Amino acid sequence: MQKLFVTGGAGFIGCNFVRYMLERHPECSVVVYDKLTYAGRMENLLDVQARHGSRLHFVRGDICDAAAVEGALREYGVDTIVNFAAETHVDRSILNPDAFIQTDVYGTYVLLEAARKAGNLRYHQISTDEVYGHIHGDHRSMESDNLAPRSPYAASKAGGDHMAAAYWITYGLPVTISRGANNIGPFQYPEKVVPLFVTNALADLALPVYGDGRQMRDYQHVLDHCVGIDVVLQRGEIGQTYNIGTGREMTNLEMVEILLEELGKPRSLIQHVEDRQGHDRRYCMNVDKVMALGWEPSYTHEAAIRATVRWYVDNRWWWEPIRSGEFQDYYQRLYGQRKVIG
Ligand code: NAD
Ligand code: TYD
Repeated sequence: MQKLFVTGGAGFIGCNFVRYMLERHPECSVVVYDKLTYAGRMENLLDVQARHGSRLHFVRGDICDAAAVEGALREYGVDTIVNFAAETHVDRSILNPDAFIQTDVYGTYVLLEAARKAGNLRYHQISTDEVYGHIHGDHRSMESDNLAPRSPYAASKAGGDHMAAAYWITYGLPVTISRGANNIGPFQYPEKVVPLFVTNALADLALPVYGDGRQMRDYQHVLDHCVGIDVVLQRGEIGQTYNIGTGREMTNLEMVEILLEELGKPRSLIQHVEDRQGHDRRYCMNVDKVMALGWEPSYTHEAAIRATVRWYVDNRWWWEPIRSGEFQDYYQRLYGQRKVIG
């Protein structure tokens, strides 16, 4: 029986992972450990609680709080930690990096140390393609590439990766790391580009495309990412890092075209605005290593975008209350004074 400790399990990818693991592995149980920041929401787990309540436990706590983490690991007899907990939005990291360094660097260290003290628990670190920085020419990032993060978010995540690797090398903690491309799908907080643009378009508001919109991203479906993480947990080699994505890329403008077409909304909603500071032009990863474990993505970019659009159309109950709360202040701060260009 796998007893998983899923930090950040009330966030976007975490809740999809918990849902997937409880469905896929009837023998496994999950403790979600989450601080419930603006991005963590109990609503994300309502259906999971209803279906799998006896195998799901929730602890509200901060990964930076060593005593609370150690206490929860002991109380539930955990054997595996999967760390999703993080501050995750690049634009917020530009406005205020502090919480990113606390959670993504120091919090990762606290979890690693707790795993070591508890008798070298299995530890999996969830990371991102952003740690490689922006990629030139037609290169695809390999797991062995040097990290070259460029935003406070990416730099904090790179710090977490280095610390996780150091715990394997120094203490023999059984660590694996996965680096995911941009995820899209159900329950993504509408500050990230795809849910932001869908929910703006549904209200006939402009879609603020940064700069020329020709930045390249690999928009993978969150379920493919969750399956990939499970494959690394079951079959990954200890001490190794695995990229997870489709290995393909598209421009933000191409993504917007599909999104608007699926909604039946006009291109005139596109508004080019002043670019993000230090905006990474291109991410793209080589994913051969995870594919060699027997994983492959099941969604194309287009299918992932269309499925995501439909989920937001059908689930207003989830995002309408979010958009009317704290989100309004954030939106004003980030976009209120932003220059329209072009
Ligand atoms: P999210 O912002 O939706 O959720 C983050 C979760 O972590 C929330 O539930 C939040 O309450 C919790 N959290 C934050 N600080 C915490 C703390 N100090 N203690 C405990 N819990 C805390 O993020 P997401 O998009 O689901 O990302 C999850 C992980 O995947 C992150 O590590 C992120 O870096 C990584 N990742 C995300 C993407 C993406 O496209 N979203 C891509 C690759 C990797
Ligand atoms: P985002 O979802 O913030 O993910 P990341 O920056 O981590 O890749 O943004 C995805 C892409 O969309 C990125 O190139 C920035 C761009 N973008 C916009 O053009 N406008 C926006 O309002 C946002 C939030 C992002």
